[in-house]
Amino acid sequence: MKLVGNVELDNIPKIKSGKVREMFSLGDEILIVTTDRISAFDYILPSLIPNKGIILNKISNFWFNYLKDIIENHLVETEFNNFPKELKKYKDVLNGRSVIVKKANIYPLECVVRGYITGSAWEEYKKNGKVGDIILPENLKFADKLPEPIFTPTTKEVSGHDIAITFNKAKKIFGTEVVEYLQEKSIELYKKANQYALNQGIIIADTKFEFGNIDDKIIIADEALTPDSSRFWFKNEYIPGQQQKSMDKQFVRDYLLNSSWDRNSIPPKLPEDIINKTSQRYIEAYEKITGEKFNEL
Ligand SMILES: Nc1ncnc2c1ncn2[C@@H]1O[C@H](COP(=O)(O)OP(=O)(O)OP(=O)(O)O)[C@@H](O)[C@H]1O
Ligand SMILES: [Mg+2]
Repeated sequence: MKLVGNVELDNIPKIKSGKVREMFSLGDEILIVTTDRISAFDYILPSLIPNKGIILNKISNFWFNYLKDIIENHLVETEFNNFPKELKKYKDVLNGRSVIVKKANIYPLECVVRGYITGSAWEEYKKNGKVGDIILPENLKFADKLPEPIFTPTTKEVSGHDIAITFNKAKKIFGTEVVEYLQEKSIELYKKANQYALNQGIIIADTKFEFGNIDDKIIIADEALTPDSSRFWFKNEYIPGQQQKSMDKQFVRDYLLNSSWDRNSIPPKLPEDIINKTSQRYIEAYEKITGEKFNEL
C-alpha cells in the first residue's frame, strides 16, 4: 500500500490543490486525485491516513452511480485501466484513487442537507428555534431526527469557514429557479441515500453536495456522501440527546481538542494509533456502505 500526499504529474498541469484532492487539467476534462491527506478544523494535518483517498474515491463513485437516476453526475471514467495512455506511467499514485470528470462551472454554494440536528444547526436552533430561515418544532433534542430533511446552504469561501446563507438570499444571488432546483435535488439525493444507508446500519445525519453547470445543464460534481462531506452515525448505537459515535474523523478531532494545539497554528502530527483507528473507521464506512470487503491495492 502506498501513501499519497502531494501529487505531481510531469506535463499535466495542476489546476488546484484542495485540502484533500488535487485537480489536473485534461482539456475539457479534469483528473481528480483523492490523496490520503486529512483536514480538521480547516487545517491540513501533517499526517496521512492509509487508504483514505482510495476509500473516499470509491464511496463517492458508489453513490454517484446509485443516485444517477436522480441527477446526472460529472464522472467520465472511474477505472484506471481505461485512462488515457499518457497517464499509464502514474499507476502507483492514480490507481483506485482517481477519476476523470467533466469540467463544470461549480456553483459556489455548498448544498447542505440535514436529516438530524447537530453541529452548527443545533447551536443555531438552541438560540432561536430556527436554522437559517427554517422554523423547527420546539423541544428537539440534540441529534434528534428532523420531521423532514432541511436544506441549509452555505457559501463556498475561498479561504476559511463557509458562511451560512438563507434560502432567500441564495435565490437573490443564483436565481430562484436554480436554487429551488438545487434544493429539490439535494433533498431527493439525501433521502434516497439515507434510506439505503439505514439498511446498511448507517445514519447519514447530514451531508453536503456541490453542483455545477455544463452547457446549461445542472449536474452533481465534486464528491458524494463520503465521511468527509457527511456525518455518518452507527444506527445500532444511535441515542438522541447525546454525542453520537461517528464514522469519520472523530478520533482525530477528539485527539486535537485534547492536545495543546491552539487551532491557530501549524497542527501537530498524529500518533500512530489515532492514524490506524481513523483508517479503520474509513474502511468500516466503505464496507458498510458498499456491502463489499475492502481489499488493499
Ligand atoms: N467537475 C468539476 N469541475 C470543476 N471543479 C470541480 C469538479 N468537481 C469538483 N470540483 C472542485 O474541485 C475541488 C476539490 O478539491 P477539495 O475538495 O480537496 O477542495 P477543498 O479544500 O474542499 O476546497 P473547496 O473549498 O474549493 O471545495 C473543489 O474546489 C471542487 O469544487
Ligand atoms: Mg471539498
